Amino acid sequence: MLLKAKDLTVYYSTIIGKTKILDSLNLNIEKGELVGIVGESGSGKSTLGFAVAGLMPPNAEVKGNLEIEGKDVVGMKEKELQQLRGTEVFMIFQNPLNSLNPVKTVGFQLLEAVRVREERKKLKYNEEKAVQEVIEVLKELRFPDPERILSRYPHQLSGGQVQRIVIAMALLLKPKLLIADEPTSALDVTIQAQVISLIRQLNQEYGIALIFITHDIALANVVSDRLIVMYAGRLMEDGPTDKILKNPLHPYTAGLISSIPKIRKEDGELPSIRGAPPSFLVLPKGCKFSPRCAKVMQVCKEREPSEIEVEGRKVRCWLYG
Ligand SMILES: Nc1ncnc2c1ncn2[C@@H]1O[C@H](COP(=O)(O)OP(=O)(O)OP(=O)(O)O)[C@@H](O)[C@H]1O
Ligand code: SF4
Ligand SMILES: [Mg+2]
Repeated sequence: MLLKAKDLTVYYSTIIGKTKILDSLNLNIEKGELVGIVGESGSGKSTLGFAVAGLMPPNAEVKGNLEIEGKDVVGMKEKELQQLRGTEVFMIFQNPLNSLNPVKTVGFQLLEAVRVREERKKLKYNEEKAVQEVIEVLKELRFPDPERILSRYPHQLSGGQVQRIVIAMALLLKPKLLIADEPTSALDVTIQAQVISLIRQLNQEYGIALIFITHDIALANVVSDRLIVMYAGRLMEDGPTDKILKNPLHPYTAGLISSIPKIRKEDGELPSIRGAPPSFLVLPKGCKFSPRCAKVMQVCKEREPSEIEVEGRKVRCWLYG
């Protein structure tokens, strides 16, 4: 097992107090799995990604168990987390500039990735060989003139080019798990398709497992074999993407699927799900989706369902318990 999370819970402290954002999430990911995480804005998708990558902000508190390759991430000190990132886990952000240092050239940063990788493997770093490797990777990522790109600073490149440089970094580091948090939402449609195919290539050629975070269930369908649906910091459904799309068990998943063509409606409401996601400060009692659910029952308003196994999937809904 590559990743094992049990009762993973995250709190954020702000001036108005401490709020529980992720609630008792259970998640296992095997080596090489392609996992999509979907849910409306604020459902806790990025928080889960940051927790797995050990990139929590200082105001966060993580509870529960989270293991990557058998190593406990929750108890790790910053130095160990740095070790984890790059070797075990690598995260790609919506804004790729967040992954790069603005005052270092692209070439310096890519060579640094090779140096760090060799150091961790206790191998001797050879600059000449490293330059060759970096150029090969850039060619593979369809940069027509890699040598010229190496001398550029991140701000001198387009958004699509910067995202491909970040993918080059992942290719050089070859982590076991890649977390991509809305990696294409800031890019043009044509570049989006290119970036998606590169991410899939990382999985197919090197067996790198992927957590692909998106609010777009149609895109998750293209990228993932397994889908996790989140709502109000909870895992609502988890199972094979094709089965979930064909036959969603959770009413929230069903709502997300039936909104696919209209998901970008401006007022933030999904057309087939009435209302908007709740505030974490005033979460409803019982099932957190109950105020919006067309199938709500009395028990839903009183007690929160827990994750249970149904037809080889995980679901958090009283219709199945
Ligand atoms: N550092 C932080 N401090 C306090 N609250 C935070 C912090 N980061 C996120 N939150 C809150 O946690 C909740 C979940 O946020 P998160 O960014 O994980 O959601 P998301 O599903 O990734 O949303 P989006 O689709 O908009 O990116 C939101 O209510 C958000 O305001
Ligand atoms: S538990 Fe009840 S309210 Fe919640 S999703 Fe299931 S049926 Fe709807
Ligand atoms: Mg997010």
